[in-house]
Amino acid sequence: MTPWWKHAVIYQIYPRSFADASGDGVGDLPGILAHVDYIERLGVDAVWLNPIYPSPMRDMGYDVADFTGVDPRFGTLEDLDALVDALHRRHIRLILDFVPNHSSDRHPWFEASRRESGGPMGRHYIWRGSRAHAPSGDLTSIFGGSAWSLDPERGQYYLHSFLAEQPDLNWEEPEVVRAMQEAMATWFRRGVDGFRVDAVTALAKDTYLLDDGTRPEAADLREFLHTAPRSPLMHRVLRSLRAVADTFGDRVLVGETWVNRIADLAAFYGDGDELQLPMNFALMEAEPTAAAWRTVVDETESALGEGRWPCYFLENHDIPRLPARVPDPELLRVVAVLLLTLRGTPIVYYGQELGLWSPPVPPEAQQDPVGRDGTRFGRDGARMPMPWTDAPGGGFSGAAPWLEIPPGYLRHAVSVQERRDDSLLALYRALIALRRSRPSLTEGAYREVAAGGALAYERLAPRERTWVMVNPEARPMRIPGPGGEILLATRPGVLARDGEIWRLEGRSAAIVDVR
Ligand code: GLC
Repeated sequence: MTPWWKHAVIYQIYPRSFADASGDGVGDLPGILAHVDYIERLGVDAVWLNPIYPSPMRDMGYDVADFTGVDPRFGTLEDLDALVDALHRRHIRLILDFVPNHSSDRHPWFEASRRESGGPMGRHYIWRGSRAHAPSGDLTSIFGGSAWSLDPERGQYYLHSFLAEQPDLNWEEPEVVRAMQEAMATWFRRGVDGFRVDAVTALAKDTYLLDDGTRPEAADLREFLHTAPRSPLMHRVLRSLRAVADTFGDRVLVGETWVNRIADLAAFYGDGDELQLPMNFALMEAEPTAAAWRTVVDETESALGEGRWPCYFLENHDIPRLPARVPDPELLRVVAVLLLTLRGTPIVYYGQELGLWSPPVPPEAQQDPVGRDGTRFGRDGARMPMPWTDAPGGGFSGAAPWLEIPPGYLRHAVSVQERRDDSLLALYRALIALRRSRPSLTEGAYREVAAGGALAYERLAPRERTWVMVNPEARPMRIPGPGGEILLATRPGVLARDGEIWRLEGRSAAIVDVR
């Protein structure tokens, strides 16, 4: 039987920004629970939540102080159970974020580790040097500035790939492996269906960190991330997590696997014993042209082959939303068709279905941390509260939201789009429903077909053939191919038959049932 996650559309929810039920301006689990009907109507099969764990929120929850709890800002464990229940009753799975690379500096493990170097947690983190001797080699963290900080209490330096408040865990220490496996198992026992594993490439310490704290070549951690696929340590960590998932059956591990070369993605699947769904960042990074998309899909298909299942997305909480890269509203419709018809599991980021953009946030309102060297990541714009209605406040919260909802968002509110058949939301719903109804679109093979300046492909199941034609260019394209019934188009009338040839308008896409 095909595992559920191969058929799934995953919906990523940033819990701070989906809906606030408690009235403190910050989204929470009961807020999500209040909108499960919306999630069901969208037609998605799984929800992935960004971290909900207790956290000082220096990096918005990616600084975890307790891997098995729920931060009171988001609710309680009971709220989580209620959400799992409500989703499962609708046959929707729940995926949580798992942050193996680091914890918060407020995590009890770190507090113990800094107190007692010879104690039971002394080796839980990566300690080097001494007060008098900084580790040699000035390693730059992913968030800028040195990746080493001196802990005054222990009198040693600790490694942090991200903020100084996010010390890296030492996965060479068996007790760390055991404790993190146990944390994961705790959630599986609670009914959670999978995890999105954070910052996978940062786990590869053995590719750059020599025992004396020196570095082999480069001084910037970011340059090492791309060599992670060749790290035995990283593969060991992934296998140890997958082993836990497998003991529960039917669970999935998605991974944040940001690499330079698509070919490197294959490594994260291991021998079928690591991640099931390493995320492919290349589609998100591609220019919105047929040529660029073709290159990404060709390279992905040849790198992964039939045995490894692709995982595509276009937006997430770390990058500006699509309109920054795809400035035309018609093109937003075209990329929706692309994302939801390629071979693989697509992830849709909350609000993507509304066409939200990332507004500039004035520095004084920014909540995203500032790097040690003053770097601003500017990720707040991609994390705006969801506009549910066009009333002031957008129906997100009874209080002032943690980030002010830009007035322009209200035109894109759910309630507004639900009144219109031609809205982007209506298109996402139709696409997801169509995908669900056609085995060729979920599990079918992928074959590109010649389409000149457009991109066209066939998805093939034993008794079903579906053609997808996408044309991001401004001019119409002529695509030779068999006739059939038009199942969906980005606008009515954009695809027409002209003898043996399809004529597809500029900036449009269509899906055809080919007999
Ligand atoms: C991942 C997360 C990002 C976070 C970082 C550190 O890249 O997506 O939001 O800041 O890891 O945990």
